[in-house]
Amino acid sequence: MARRKKIYEGKAKILYEGPEPGTIVQYFKDDATAFNAQKKDVIEGKGVLNNRLSEFFMTGLNNIGVPTHFLRRLNMREQLCRSCEIIPLEVIVRNVAAGSMSKRLGIEEGTQLPRPIVEYCLKNDDLGDPLVTEEHIAAFGWASQQDMDDIVHLALRVNDFLSGVMMAVGIKLVDFKIEIGRVYEGDFQRLVVADEISPDSCRLWDIESGKHLDKDVFRRDLGSLTDAYTEVAQRLGVLPRSAGTTKPTLIN
Ligand code: TMP
Ligand code: ASP
Repeated sequence: MARRKKIYEGKAKILYEGPEPGTIVQYFKDDATAFNAQKKDVIEGKGVLNNRLSEFFMTGLNNIGVPTHFLRRLNMREQLCRSCEIIPLEVIVRNVAAGSMSKRLGIEEGTQLPRPIVEYCLKNDDLGDPLVTEEHIAAFGWASQQDMDDIVHLALRVNDFLSGVMMAVGIKLVDFKIEIGRVYEGDFQRLVVADEISPDSCRLWDIESGKHLDKDVFRRDLGSLTDAYTEVAQRLGVLPRSAGTTKPTLIN
């Protein structure tokens, strides 16, 4: 079989041309990077976990009427998605101060924010994805005012959905990043949640212990990343409880 045409290779995923027009295949790699790829490793199994977890979150969003690019999972590492034009922004929603916001504003990590705060970063690795304001976005034409209204609405719906899903399994959704794509339908364009939603792009803290169950485990050298992601997948029922942890048991 002819190898599919590669469209784009990013730090954690490869995009291939899909089987039908208007579709792409997203392949989840095991590569982990942080601090704009200054820190790198290959974490065996991460791609498989993120493929399953992103499927779970995107399917849930589709089911409650929040449009996403996700169509269906193809295999352990690949999913079929609608092709879309990615708006060059990282849309971040924060419920609790952490990470770059804590550093920038001197707010202690873990401080509950009075309301969800939406931030935008320009997707540009050479510049280190700088924080930008709606003024920049409008002035440089990265998105229109109507797009921005739709983006905030989508981001807050994703926040409500993910917060609830995680809360139900004892995990606090501290913050997350999504990317938004434009899908063209005839003369109309529609915005959809694109890219991935996984512990690579969220901060997830165990409510009881405060334990990190997200990519900060890798960024901050806090232990096994796959153990953390497996824990999230098991709590959500995406993986069976016994997966990877069963030991042979003696039968008398
Ligand atoms: P930050 O506190 O480092 O700005 O990150 C905010 C959220 O965005 C956090 O959940 C991690 C996620 N994120 C990404 O998905 N990709 C990135 O490149 C960065 C810097 C953060
Ligand atoms: N995804 C970004 C990188 O590789 C940063 C991060 O997630 O911390 O470098």
